[in-house]
Order: sequence, then structure tokens, then C-alpha cells
Amino acid sequence: GLYDGYLAEQWRELDKMAKEVLLTATPVDGEKEAKEKFMQDLEAVCQKVEPTAKLIPFGSIVTGFATRGSDIDCVFTSNTDSALQNDKITEPETPFDRHDELVTQLQESGYNAQLLTRTRVPIIKLVRPATPDVPDSVSCDIGFNNFLAIHNTRLLRTYAACDERLVQMVLFIKWWAKRRHINSPYRGTLSSYGYALLIVHYLINIAQPPVLPNLQLFHPPATQTSTELQYEHNGNVCNIWYLKDTSTLPRSANKASIGELLRGFFEYYAFTFRWQNDVVSIRTAGGILTKMEKNWCAARSRPGGREEGQVWEVKDRVDVQHRYLLAIEDPFETTHNVARTCTFNGVGRIKSELKRAMYLIKSRDPGHHRLRTELFEEA
Ligand code: CTP
Ligand code: MG
Repeated sequence: GLYDGYLAEQWRELDKMAKEVLLTATPVDGEKEAKEKFMQDLEAVCQKVEPTAKLIPFGSIVTGFATRGSDIDCVFTSNTDSALQNDKITEPETPFDRHDELVTQLQESGYNAQLLTRTRVPIIKLVRPATPDVPDSVSCDIGFNNFLAIHNTRLLRTYAACDERLVQMVLFIKWWAKRRHINSPYRGTLSSYGYALLIVHYLINIAQPPVLPNLQLFHPPATQTSTELQYEHNGNVCNIWYLKDTSTLPRSANKASIGELLRGFFEYYAFTFRWQNDVVSIRTAGGILTKMEKNWCAARSRPGGREEGQVWEVKDRVDVQHRYLLAIEDPFETTHNVARTCTFNGVGRIKSELKRAMYLIKSRDPGHHRLRTELFEEA
């Protein structure tokens, strides 16, 4: 009927817009290679200090969620055995502790490396200056103990391999969230990782038929070794198994355009998701738990553990409390609220931005002029 016509028109306009945005948001040709080369050069310097050193990338450079000029995240490892190549990442028995020496070596090799020590485990920050081939300067964080990030990065990469619409959705939402200033964990809003999890939940559980399967709900084959099933972190045992070989899975029966999925995403989080009660939990069947059942109700100061010494802690506030205003459960470390960086005001702003986006999407102005100019307007 008439309503279907309006909807189809909204999808079409969003879809057109998404194509344009993706052209701008996608890294320039050669950017990924340049970032990888930068990491290799850094690794060579690290090996002068520790011959067994390796830098393992994680985050958007691995998942394919990188936007133009987005940063490089990596973890320093040493004395790791060759099992590293086989998805078996375990924390080293004797953690590397010569951070000062490493920073000095990096500086002597011409990098403007900085050691951040306000966190329990230090972090090294560097910048890759802009070059003719990559016109944005790129910052790079080297962390030392967040191996779980490598696992959750690989989970996201596997989801991305299931359906290319995931990457497109993430790039669009990140681009929008950056313009609207609601993608700053250190200023009270949500990290890119948090947005990616919101999108994964939408594509597994809300879009009908589902766009993605739930890779954590398949049963591991009997031959899996314990290191592929579990990982101990801060005294918590994390279930890290998920289906890694997705080549035999059927393609999704959902043929929706990016425009249709984006509208569904905005509508779901603006109007259906119960911010007060719900916890996004991509590992769980249905994708939603309640704050009540996780005991994620009142804010409390941190009981130690994960916050300190994590790469993203530089961006987040170090003295952060555990807040559950927006609740997104990490897929492996289930005691960790990925959205704990969101303040009361931050959550309010995210919600009103989602509603604003819906309002613009629905506005039927001629040529969709407002949608085009206002959705991505710098806030
Ligand atoms: N991460 C995490 N827990 C968090 C935040 C981040 O485990 N609370 C890890 C995840 O492995 C994530 C990586 O850190 O993939 C990078 O996070 P983030 O920088 O937020 O996401 P990117 O995809 O790298 O986005 P951007 O391009 O904006 O840097
Ligand atoms: Mg990143």
C-alpha cells in the first residue's frame, strides 16, 4: 500500500546515501598496506630489543571496519611459540617488562614514541605522519596484555566474512557517529567496538530473516583442544569458541539493501530496544539479556581487573566506574560492559541522535535534501 511506498522510498534514499558515504569513508588505495608496512617497520625495531618480539594487529585494521585515517591497534608479544599462527593465543608466562628500553629504541629509530604509564600495564603511542600515499596521519597504539582483543577481533572478522553488509553497515554508522560526536569513549559515548556489537546483534537477531548466524551458538567439534575453547583472563574463564570455518554455511536468505537494514537499525535502537532493561549480548540466543539477570543494575566502582592496562584505556577515562546505563556484554569476557564508558549525558545524546536520524529518514522533503545535508552534519 501507500505505507510500503513510503518505506521503499526511504530505503532507496538511504541506500543512495550509503553508497556515497562508503566511497568517502573507505580507506584510500594503499592505506591498509601502508599501515601494515608501518607495523612491520615497528616490529623490526622491537626485535632489536627483544628478538622474539611480534606485533599482532587487532581492531579495525583486521576486521575490515577501518575508515579513512583510522588508527592502528596492536599487541606486543614475545617468547610466543609457533602456535600463535594456529589461533591459539595465550598470555606469556613471563610478561615483557623492558618498556622504557623499547621506547628509547623506537625514539632512536626516528619514531615519536611515547610511553603512557598511568595504566598498570604501559602503552606505547606513536603517530605515522601523513605521506603522499596516505594523506591522513595515523596513530598507533602498542599494548602489552590484551590478548582477548585479538580473539574478539577475529570473531568480528569472521562475521564480516559471512556477509559483506556487516562491513558496510559498520562503516556507515561509524562515519555518522563520528560526525555527530557520539563515538568518543573518553568523552562519555560509545567506542567503535561497541557500535560494531550493536550492529552484529541487529543483523543476527532483529533483521528478519537473519543476515548473520550466531557463530557462538554452534557446537565445537570434539577434537577442539582446551586452548581453543577457553581462555583465562584476570582470573575469569572466558569461553572463546565460535565457528571459524564459515565456508559451508548457507548464504543469508535476507536480501535487504543496506538502506533497508540501516533504517531497521536506527528504528530498532531508537524505539524498540529497551535501554533501561536490556543488555545486548551477541553470544546469547535471541541477543538480549536483562540487566537484572546479569546484576548490572547500579553503578559501582570498579572491582579491579580489566580496566587497567588495556589499549583502549588511553581513550577511556582511567578512573571510570562500572556504569550500566547502556549495557553491551563483551562476547567473550562476559563480565565486561563494553559501553561502560557511556555517561548519563552520553547515553542521552546517543538516543537523541538515533531519533534524529529516524526523523530525518522519515521526512519526505523534496529530493530528500534535509536527509542529505543534516544526517552527517558535524554536530
Ligand atoms: N576492544 C575491546 N573492548 C573494548 C574496546 C575495544 O576488546 N571495550 C578491542 C576490540 O578487539 C576492538 C579493538 O579493541 O576490535 C579496537 O577497538 P576500537 O578502536 O573501538 O574499534 P575499531 O574497530 O578499531 O575502530 P576505529 O577504526 O574507530 O579505531
Ligand atoms: Mg581502533
